[in-house]
Amino acid sequence: MGLTARHPVVNVAVVAAILGVGLLVGCTPDHNQSTFDATGPVAKSQLILFYWIFGAAVFVFVLVEAALLYAVIRYRKKPGDTDPKQTHGHTRLEIAWTLAPAIVLAVVAIPTIGTIFDNANSPHPPEEGGMLVEVVASQWWWQFNYTHPDDPEKTLVTANELHIPVGTVVNLTLDSKDVLHSFWIPKIAGKVDVVPNNLNKMWIRGDETGNFFGQCAEFCGISHGNMRFNVVVESREDFDAWLRKEAGPGFVSTEPLAAQGKELFEGSAGCFACHTIAGSNRARGTRGPNLTHLASRKHLAAGIMENTQINLRRWLEDPDEVKPGNLMGRDAPVYTDPAKKLTEPEISALVAYLRSLK
Ligand code: CUA
Repeated sequence: MGLTARHPVVNVAVVAAILGVGLLVGCTPDHNQSTFDATGPVAKSQLILFYWIFGAAVFVFVLVEAALLYAVIRYRKKPGDTDPKQTHGHTRLEIAWTLAPAIVLAVVAIPTIGTIFDNANSPHPPEEGGMLVEVVASQWWWQFNYTHPDDPEKTLVTANELHIPVGTVVNLTLDSKDVLHSFWIPKIAGKVDVVPNNLNKMWIRGDETGNFFGQCAEFCGISHGNMRFNVVVESREDFDAWLRKEAGPGFVSTEPLAAQGKELFEGSAGCFACHTIAGSNRARGTRGPNLTHLASRKHLAAGIMENTQINLRRWLEDPDEVKPGNLMGRDAPVYTDPAKKLTEPEISALVAYLRSLK
């Protein structure tokens, strides 16, 4: 039975309940995608701008609705009324209702323009020694390139987990390998489009340590909703230690099962063709995420599930079930060719190897 078959009051109640739930979820500050507990100057300036525009909208709404209700009630038709006196043109009124919206628009435009320029111009750009991270988006994951701590000419590549030192301006360049994406950390900075062949820039600063949720905010294909990332805002010492560790090779395990997994990874399973693992002679692929320190990351498959043994196994068994449309499930022979399908023991070996990459 559709909504239309019910009493109109029921319909209104149902619609109000749905909107109410949406409003409550959207405005719950600790929700991942809520922008109401902003940290850092970028998200805070955007939140202030939101309140400013919302205030202007509420002001206009109240004024217009009040005038409308007053006119409807005060001038409603009564029995015996004749047509009111017809007028055409009223110079003073016309000037007033042209000026009033212009003032309201100015109230919205001035802080908007100020915020746009503040957010576009980094207070500590790379040319002046500011920190830089290159963001490269692909369907459906994120690559983050850092400057190597020992050699500024070299790049340190990681994926799906952005680490930044607390209270530090971090400049980002945004590039895409395929389609349009949008970079968004709801509590730290608003959305900036990631456009292929057009390097967009932004800056962020996290003022509280912790883990923050990032999400692609531009529809980019079937797994757009699964294109997330983790942002770790940490003390300078923790950040330096992390970067130092990232610069080293992935942990080399002596465990036989992990060694067997390494052999598969660099051999018959074909993983090496698309993934890089620093320290490996064969695993140099760049089509998929760099997995050098996969085991130290908090999530798997671009922020969509906890990095646990069970989830890693689930991912390797059937990537398409976890993240529909992903390139690995679509193109890797072990998933496309039934004759090459990974056996359960092979998956166990690969899991052991990947989980040793600390
Ligand atoms: Cu990438 Cu949506």
